[in-house]
Amino acid sequence: MSLAISAKGLTRCFGDFIAVDRLDLSIEEKTIFGFLGPNGSGKSTTLRMLTGLLTPSHGDICVLGLDIPKQSEALRLRLGYMTQKFSLYDDLSIEENLKFMAQVFNLPGREVNKRIDAQLTVYGLDQRRKRMAGSLSGGQRQRLALAAATLHEPELLLLDEPTSAVDPENRRDFWETLFDLCDQGATILVSTHYMDEAERCHNLAILEGGIKQADGSPKQLMADMQATVLEVDGTHLRQIREVLTARPEILSAAQQGARLRVLVTNALSNPEEWLKSQWPDAMKDRTIERVRPSLEDVFVHCTGQRRQ
Ligand SMILES: Nc1ncnc2c1ncn2[C@@H]1O[C@H](COP(=O)(O)OP(=O)(O)O)[C@@H](O)[C@H]1O
Ligand SMILES: [Mg+2]
Repeated sequence: MSLAISAKGLTRCFGDFIAVDRLDLSIEEKTIFGFLGPNGSGKSTTLRMLTGLLTPSHGDICVLGLDIPKQSEALRLRLGYMTQKFSLYDDLSIEENLKFMAQVFNLPGREVNKRIDAQLTVYGLDQRRKRMAGSLSGGQRQRLALAAATLHEPELLLLDEPTSAVDPENRRDFWETLFDLCDQGATILVSTHYMDEAERCHNLAILEGGIKQADGSPKQLMADMQATVLEVDGTHLRQIREVLTARPEILSAAQQGARLRVLVTNALSNPEEWLKSQWPDAMKDRTIERVRPSLEDVFVHCTGQRRQ
């Protein structure tokens, strides 16, 4: 196993505030690694430190064998970085934006047109090459941003919430493209607050308040969760939820349609029986079913937050 990124004790303070707190990261090359966390959890700050643009307060970073931030200039040409906000020029056309990026990355003149044509085809923008970037839809802008970030064929891609302004269908296409890039040998680090996107990553880290709460493959994280997940059906689920969550054995309970999804500490050997014995009246005539944990359960368990 070869690491594209390793970080130890990575910390960034802004004044007294600790935005990223002693983060350790190991990201295997040629994999897709996700940062999953709510707003303000330190995803963008971490990505900026990994690019070398922001200096850590403490900690060590090694990216593609380079000591960051000391060797960030050598990293620049091997890295593609998509910031959270669209950072191209609204009043330049698609083609002009890509030409500009080609200059930024010093692509040799004779290769530029060929490379731009290839990118326009891959990202489905060739029919619109003369359109101003400012007039594009969310999905098109994001495809252009990815075309620009990958123009110089970087080994490592850092994508900061790349799909936050994109509809579900375009998000799906976007992920297909990420898997293609990964198959071609790129390592991809992507931040997201979408659970379904995090679930597609080879490995991920769950961040909250600048602290890594868990990391591993989605499957491993689900298996490692120290909780059993039960689904309870029936009526008056809202009232039952309030009663259940008052007890420390119940880690969380959330309504999903006609069912209540309940996370119970796995210190209880028979949680179904335990529920029935604790609340004989409320649990009468209900089906209590043990179900497979999802990444959302892991997230709720780690952060105490329920996300979309
Ligand atoms: N330049 C800055 N100055 C002060 N505080 C900052 C700065 N950048 C980020 N922060 C704070 O650090 C925390 C983490 O921010 P950020 O990394 O942007 O989180 P995320 O990308 O997960 O939403 C937030 O509370 C944010 O307000
Ligand atoms: Mg951010």
